[in-house]
Amino acid sequence: MSLALELSELATEIAREAGELARTRRQEGVRLAATKSSLADIVTDADREVEALIRARLRAARSEDGFLGEETGAEGGSSGITWVVDPIDGTVNYAYGIPAYNVSIAAVRGEPDPRSWEALAGAVNAPALGEIFTAARGHGAWSDGNRLAVTDETPAGALLATGFGYDPATHEGDLATVGRVMPMARDLRRMGAAALDLAYVAAGRLDGYFERGLRPWDFAAGALLVEEAGGVVSRIDVDSSRPMLIAGGPDVHAQLVAILDEKH
Ligand code: IPD
Ligand code: CA
Repeated sequence: MSLALELSELATEIAREAGELARTRRQEGVRLAATKSSLADIVTDADREVEALIRARLRAARSEDGFLGEETGAEGGSSGITWVVDPIDGTVNYAYGIPAYNVSIAAVRGEPDPRSWEALAGAVNAPALGEIFTAARGHGAWSDGNRLAVTDETPAGALLATGFGYDPATHEGDLATVGRVMPMARDLRRMGAAALDLAYVAAGRLDGYFERGLRPWDFAAGALLVEEAGGVVSRIDVDSSRPMLIAGGPDVHAQLVAILDEKH
């Protein structure tokens, strides 16, 4: 079996177990553990417990790999593979009881830096929605036995999604960006979970997605899903503090880049 498939199977198995833990903890009630970058940026006890579970499972299965997780940070490895993990993506949805949250696990090769890494495998599990999306480089993106494919035609305009960061100071600029993009859109969704936005682009449920300021664990698995479903993902302003991620079918991606990349 290829390395990418092997890593994808492991990511899927661990994402399933981690998703069940997150769902169980949600049913028991959510306790806020802390706020992070701003008052709106929260972490729950479950985020920490789920990341600890994922980290322990990965250490047991592949002790030489590195790790980069939202809650517990980075640890180098010796194999050249790093696991990039968001234990709960969509934490605010999780805290409010909105089912659009997910566990996101990716394996990447090379430096653990999205500017240069090559994603090999990814799993995005949304346990409260009963859906898991998986991908292995060169082997496609899949959900429930179905191969995923991005959309290729948008005669009525593109159904787009975006998200806003937790810092209120950035909202005005992000809303101005939305204003520039709306002429190409049939409508806009804002689900609150970046990895799920990307999984939906891969599944053809959205035509495109853009967001500034995502962190590596928000998109590592989801970007591979889009690429393996025939889509294109790019990042612009990568050296700024809030790079913009753009994803979609080839045509919608190109339209978004033309609007959003000032260098064009
Ligand atoms: C957040 C979600 C949200 C996006 C934020 C992310 P978190 O991740 O993906 O949709 O708009 O930029 O930080 O904090 O819930 O893991
Ligand atoms: Ca998170």
